[in-house]
Amino acid sequence: DKAGYKHFMAKEIAEQPVVLADALRHYTRSGALNLPDGLDFTGIERITMVACGTAYYACLVAKYWFEQIARLPVEVDVASEFRYREPPIPGGTASLFVSQSGETADTLAALRYCRDKADRVWSLVNVPTSSIAREADLALPILAGVEVSVASTKAFTNQLLLLALMALKAASQRGHLDAAGLAQALDDMRRLPGLMNQVLTNEARIERLGDRLAEAQDVLFLGRGALYPLALEGALKLKELSYIHAEGYASGELKHGPIALIDRNVPVVVFAPHDGLFEKTVSNMQEVMARHGQVILVTDPEGARLAQEGTAATLILPEAPSLLAPILYAVPAQLLAYHTAVAKGTDVDQPRNLAKSVTVE
Ligand code: F6R
Repeated sequence: DKAGYKHFMAKEIAEQPVVLADALRHYTRSGALNLPDGLDFTGIERITMVACGTAYYACLVAKYWFEQIARLPVEVDVASEFRYREPPIPGGTASLFVSQSGETADTLAALRYCRDKADRVWSLVNVPTSSIAREADLALPILAGVEVSVASTKAFTNQLLLLALMALKAASQRGHLDAAGLAQALDDMRRLPGLMNQVLTNEARIERLGDRLAEAQDVLFLGRGALYPLALEGALKLKELSYIHAEGYASGELKHGPIALIDRNVPVVVFAPHDGLFEKTVSNMQEVMARHGQVILVTDPEGARLAQEGTAATLILPEAPSLLAPILYAVPAQLLAYHTAVAKGTDVDQPRNLAKSVTVE
């Protein structure tokens, strides 16, 4: 049931503030974490995260979080590569498998590879009865509710929420975060649903940007730090839904090749909240503008004040606590792809050649 929306994808994008708040209530209790005891980082020296597609990008964001706030090294791999590489799994490794469906064949095979090698085998799933849930020592449901649209949206943001909560637990257990710091981080998280709603209220503006992107042949997405995986996710969403060629790059990689693609016909979407990396990203963005690339800057009010001059368009999101920016910036990434696809008239909920659950390798 699309509940009055034109597509399941639109419904599932709009549900994000509610399912995020639900999961947050479930996994916290009066200013503290309420995660299962089995999620224990004692004796863990590294985490290996394995997933496919959008779930893989969620893991890439989590790498920044775990390394920055918990000082725990994280390796992230796509399941189809991991499973055949025979990677060594040293003592002190926790392995984490992230999958909306819980049935992705490559991710399941990677989990089976780690079963008798890793100290911990954990999974994050949306379907609690799935194989990847059953075969892990501990499975955390992301509580996003049924996701029908082939393109993953609310599962991605709830995966990110759970990964952020796990990083906070690791940081606390490892002595890098005190109770006050944790309470502050959880307070920040409780603001997220409201911030997401503010982005959703501005959907009409993103719809107009989608009409413009629908004319493009190629689109680039740029981001730095934890927003780099969001550039990858924005590009994946756009190509799978609208069939427009799109690539995501780390902003700093631009001058190592991709800048050769820029001309006046190439829209470049730049995710740049006003954080510690802002000036670096803006200088990459200016290199794009100097080559007549059409920059769509996605930022916050302060970022817009400092850098909107010369952009083709600037989308202003509310200011977000820096840890949580990747979760908030997922919403415009999804809406841009959605509205571009609607403008092109493609089959939004069921893009060609794709299946919701990839149970063959
Ligand atoms: C993209 C998308 C896919 C899935 C990938 C993994 O929008 O939905 O990239 O994220 O196929 O699927 P799960 O999470 O079910 O393992």
